[in-house]
Amino acid sequence: MQIIRSVDELIDYVADQKNRHISIGLVPTMGALHEGHLSLVERAVSENGCVIVSVFVNPTQFNNPEDLRTYPRTEEADVKLLAKAGASAVFIPAVEEVYPDGAKSDKVYDLGSVAEVMEGKFRPGHFQGVAQIVSRLFILSRPDRAYFGEKDFQQIAVIKRMTETEGLNVSIVECPICRADDGLALSSRNTLLSPDQRLRAPLIYKALRESVEYSKSHSVRATHDMVVEQIDAVPEMKVEYFEIVDARTLLPVEEWEESPRIQGCITVFNGKVRLIDNICYRPV
Ligand code: PAF
Repeated sequence: MQIIRSVDELIDYVADQKNRHISIGLVPTMGALHEGHLSLVERAVSENGCVIVSVFVNPTQFNNPEDLRTYPRTEEADVKLLAKAGASAVFIPAVEEVYPDGAKSDKVYDLGSVAEVMEGKFRPGHFQGVAQIVSRLFILSRPDRAYFGEKDFQQIAVIKRMTETEGLNVSIVECPICRADDGLALSSRNTLLSPDQRLRAPLIYKALRESVEYSKSHSVRATHDMVVEQIDAVPEMKVEYFEIVDARTLLPVEEWEESPRIQGCITVFNGKVRLIDNICYRPV
């Protein structure tokens, strides 16, 4: 596996693959890799001749400096895991390499209404930062396909929109959420949980799972309230938002009949650690 640290080196590497008509799969990550990331890499390996994984904690998508400072960084372990998973190259640039003019927004991306709700409301500027780095990675690595996990359900909708409005010819591959045996959605942030917080964290998915059954005989509002009440009753846990939305527009629904696919998207503070998850209600 080739380790690439500079933009010039990445451009040369990609040009070489293109000259040899090798298809490119890109897996953008912020490192601190876990089984969820590796499942994206494995899928990409099975569908492409060459797989580039980027490991870059993108400062422009953090609206909270403390969150950026404490974001887990495990470069050495990441490189070993990627080599084992069959990645062809890992792109690990320094911040100055990606943003030579400083880590700030370069323009306003047209992300439409999917970026305005939920994470967009609670993390102002977050999706502009995601669009900035992902579009840059797409332009530099010219992938045929790019792989993203459904844990960040809204992020996928935003990236699809960005890909369209920026005219980037990349197919976005959505991959299922990976969970620990106790149901907790795998996330790099899980390593920040104290042992007690980690023990309680699976209650998020438990509430979501139970709510799918509950939703069959209850209204959207009642299902929403049941999830929030269950989670808020747990010590140290506080729901930041839980929205039951049309999976395509990400706008809240009031009736189960309103959309053929309905998703429940949740963000919970477990102590200071912000965890997100989601579940599909319709179709089940
Ligand atoms: O999902 C993430 O880890 C990040 O938002 C991404 C897509 C790698 C962009 O920095």
